[in-house]
Amino acid sequence: MDGTASNAPPSAQPSLAAQRVQEYLEKHEDKGLLRLLTCGSVDDGKSTLIGRLLHDTKQVFDDLMSALERDSKVSGTTGPGRVDYALLLDGLQAEREQGITIDAAYRYFNTEKRKFVVADAPGHEQYTRNMCTAASTAELAILLVDARKGVITQTRRHTTVCSLMGIKNVVLAVNKMDLKAYDQTVFGTIVAEYLPFAAKLGIDNVTCIPLSALEGDNIVTPSPNMPWYTGPALLPFLEDVDVSTDREHLPFRFPVQWVNRPNLDFRGFSGTVVSGAIAVGDGVSTLPSGQKSKVARIVTKDGDLERAVAGQAVTLTLTDEIDVSRGDMLVPTEDQPAMGDHFTANLIWLDNNALMPGREYLVRMGPRQTRGQVTSIKHKIDVNTMDERPAPTLELNDVGLVNLNIDRALPFDPYTENRDTGSFILIDRLTNATVGAGMIQFSLWRSTNLAWQHLEIGPEQRARQKGQRPCVLWLTGLSGSGKSTIANLLDKRLYAEGHHATMLDGDNVRHGLNKDLGFTAQDRVENIRRVTEVASLMADAGLITLVSFISPYREERNSARVRIGDARFVEVYVKADVATCAERDPKGLYKKAMAGEIKNFTGVDAPYEEPLEPTVTVDTANSTPEEAVELILDWLRSQGFLSVEGDGSGI
Ligand code: ADX
Repeated sequence: MDGTASNAPPSAQPSLAAQRVQEYLEKHEDKGLLRLLTCGSVDDGKSTLIGRLLHDTKQVFDDLMSALERDSKVSGTTGPGRVDYALLLDGLQAEREQGITIDAAYRYFNTEKRKFVVADAPGHEQYTRNMCTAASTAELAILLVDARKGVITQTRRHTTVCSLMGIKNVVLAVNKMDLKAYDQTVFGTIVAEYLPFAAKLGIDNVTCIPLSALEGDNIVTPSPNMPWYTGPALLPFLEDVDVSTDREHLPFRFPVQWVNRPNLDFRGFSGTVVSGAIAVGDGVSTLPSGQKSKVARIVTKDGDLERAVAGQAVTLTLTDEIDVSRGDMLVPTEDQPAMGDHFTANLIWLDNNALMPGREYLVRMGPRQTRGQVTSIKHKIDVNTMDERPAPTLELNDVGLVNLNIDRALPFDPYTENRDTGSFILIDRLTNATVGAGMIQFSLWRSTNLAWQHLEIGPEQRARQKGQRPCVLWLTGLSGSGKSTIANLLDKRLYAEGHHATMLDGDNVRHGLNKDLGFTAQDRVENIRRVTEVASLMADAGLITLVSFISPYREERNSARVRIGDARFVEVYVKADVATCAERDPKGLYKKAMAGEIKNFTGVDAPYEEPLEPTVTVDTANSTPEEAVELILDWLRSQGFLSVEGDGSGI
């Protein structure tokens, strides 16, 4: 998953507290580690609870403690003479925001039995992204609810995200019981509502604890105020709970982070064992290539090992000189993951701009990055009820089940089996933002059953037969800018000169191939994706292909360029401003759009993204269609598209 690295200024020194946390971690190295995620809003008392845990496990250092007492007097919310534990947390948070703690999103504490890493998931919806990141490594989630409010939408959403992110253990911490007179029925009602919901999501290990973080009830010791509760207090429970995920017992998976080659005598593959174990002499294969070898050495900074297990960072050397590069995965020859390029996956959408099915995103799986598209949204999940609903897109914080297609087959495991090799993120190619987090369910049949059929007569022969260099002239511009008029004239000129051309026109293609598509952003992306494929086939057939589609998005025009090939893709910007087009209004559509009778009309209430570097620009507000055609023809001639000598004989 995406990291949560702080943007610490280079000069920042770890704070005293941060240094001490590090010291603690080292001191308690041998103790088992439990990774916790806390969910809930500050109002639910989350800060107070975490502060209380830190305090009651004596993690609050004297210097911080006296500062805390001072601050509580000044700005505490708990009344005179009482320590406001939330301030403790807020203090750390301020530090964290300045980027000066060691690990931005996490806090550490420990007891005699265990050490704990607490990842804090803020309550608001806009932080779903942070929650996903934190949840992806957590083994247990503490979900806070306010006893006065009970289970709320946010509780359900957090539970859904926990379930999607593979967290199997949940503590429902019913806080502020003191404000409900420690009433057993209040607790009982909340539990009765929550348990069936969690069970529906496949979270079976739910422990419900009534508590008061402020008063310290059921935090470290059983509370005398709630004698009716016979279960464990929070901290003893966290110390003893068994969350073993058996990561070590899963098949060995080792994504190669980098190839370590300090000199000609040493070639090692460095990374972290994400699951399973490996020993010297074990047979391994490298994926995707499938070449086989054996482990020669397991090198670490503290010397060689005989065996390495999940979580360890090591460098492996092999007995044979096989090709292994960064991003490859070393796996046991006997127990390999599936390879796939088409998956069904749960996807959490993390971006303000909605998902565009059909659009190309970068897909990062472990250290590998490739391009891919969501080919369909099977349904969206209502996080309150878990109902499945049809949806044309996913908006910020939506969760859905989608089919994803990637550019080349990569190794993967289903997410439920392996969180590391079963997850991916989607990245927007223009903004570089992480826009989605996905969890693979299974691969689709296409992955293994389709191959490329070799064609005896290829594009070169067909082009030579026609005596021209085929290309795709991609005319983009507003409706009414003159695309179709120019394309028609150009087609006639090419025909008259004996060239082989064809036309793909938006309106026409929408009567047939694309008649199922409308004018939403998603439909336009799909419209352009399909016409890109058709145009590419036409160019393969040797034709000069005239495409006139509004094609309002840069991203899709760019994908067309990549798909069709830079050398034969010619972006022609048919330029005319909205006012000019609206005045021409050849089909009367602007009038209707401006009257609100047509929705999503390009230039009126839907965007048009001008080409940044078009190959040819024709300004139709200031020139005639004939002049535009001359300009394009001149360009085609100057680039040699029209003058290849044909032999007339075919091959
Ligand atoms: S695109 O945006 O998906 O590339 P396309 O070129 O296929 O659009 O279709 C545009 C044509 O559809 C316009 O020339 C116009 O005749 C018609 N049309 C109908 N409704 C709309 C609309 N809402 N926005 C743009 N064009 C529309």
